[in-house]
Amino acid sequence: MAHHFALAVFILGFTGFWSMCAADVGDFAPCLESFYRSWPPKGLVGTPICQRYQNQYRFATLYSRPRRTPWFSAYLYATPEGKRPHTFWKYEPQLAYPGADGNMLSFPLGHLDQNVVESQGVELDYINSTYSRGHLNPSLHHKSYTDRASTFTLTNVVPQMAGSNDGPWEALEQNVNKTLGTYCLGDTYIVTGIIPYQSDEPWLRNHRVAVPEYIWSAYCCPNYNNSLPKVLKDAFPTYAAIGRNDCNSTEEIVPVSQQTKKQFRGYDVRKMPLETLEMYLKDRFKTVVSVFYEQCSQSN
Ligand SMILES: *[C@@H]1O[C@H](CO)[C@@H](O)[C@H](O)[C@H]1NC(C)=O
Ligand SMILES: *[C@@H]1O[C@H](CO)[C@@H](O)[C@H](O)[C@H]1NC(C)=O
Ligand SMILES: *[C@@H]1O[C@H](CO)[C@@H](O)[C@H](O)[C@H]1NC(C)=O
Ligand SMILES: *[C@@H]1O[C@H](CO)[C@@H](O)[C@H](O)[C@H]1NC(C)=O
Repeated sequence: MAHHFALAVFILGFTGFWSMCAADVGDFAPCLESFYRSWPPKGLVGTPICQRYQNQYRFATLYSRPRRTPWFSAYLYATPEGKRPHTFWKYEPQLAYPGADGNMLSFPLGHLDQNVVESQGVELDYINSTYSRGHLNPSLHHKSYTDRASTFTLTNVVPQMAGSNDGPWEALEQNVNKTLGTYCLGDTYIVTGIIPYQSDEPWLRNHRVAVPEYIWSAYCCPNYNNSLPKVLKDAFPTYAAIGRNDCNSTEEIVPVSQQTKKQFRGYDVRKMPLETLEMYLKDRFKTVVSVFYEQCSQSN
């Protein structure tokens, strides 16, 4: 009898342990600190991932299983130190096995489990494709080496044209870093996501990984230096941008500048108020999308 009791306690304890671990995929509850006022964006539907690396939560991603790419990643910005890390690309074991460890893992050098391949984008999807691996949450916006390394997970990555990734989009990430580093006085929350094509979507490798038409980003810094230069007077507490990921897209959302260097032409980024971004998101997703709690309007 005592043995049975002990066994029952053991099994209960064990399943409790599993369900605690399993919370990294399917629920933002363990990583709400990645969001302004612990409030994940509303309106987009997908699989929440609390991105855990070396037993710490690093950021949050809303993942699309059918697209095998993220809808958005959300993170707390930190002034960067050091260089971009040289690191292995990683995957999320819980997308294939809900009971697996919640930490992201490096892709193995040899054989990759077929259930992992089915559940998410893998390195082979990007190798020899015409697209680079575009971070939504960039390593540039983090301080510690491990925080930076944790952004190198393919659940944080979309197929991005090099003309965007190495051109105007990278310039945006650097501008945001400079602006926040100089004028934001408290925490900054950033959400970076994608806008899908309306039709004829390109995919990598036989409909495995969906390519986005645009990438968007918005930040929320409620506590900032009021003596802003004129060019930045609209940049606080919140600002946003949309970048082209297809040089052949029409120009209603983001116009093309002929001044841009040839290899980056057609991959322009348009900066805009948060409300304008949310208007375009509503238009494409056919539902109201709210990026920040009360449009980040409340000051602390
Ligand atoms: C990528 O392309 C190169 C050159 O065509 C080829 O040698 C290599 O095997 C390809 N790699 C993969 C993983 O398909
Ligand atoms: C990021 O911003 C900080 C603070 O403004 C600045 O010191 C640093 O050089 C910037 N880093 C990069 C890579 O631009
Ligand atoms: C705010 O910006 C002004 C002008 O750039 C600067 O002189 C001042 O030190 C800044 N204040 C804080 C608290 O950073
Ligand atoms: C853009 O359109 C041109 C002409 O149809 C085509 O040759 C080119 O491959 C397209 N570029 C991309 C990146 O799709």
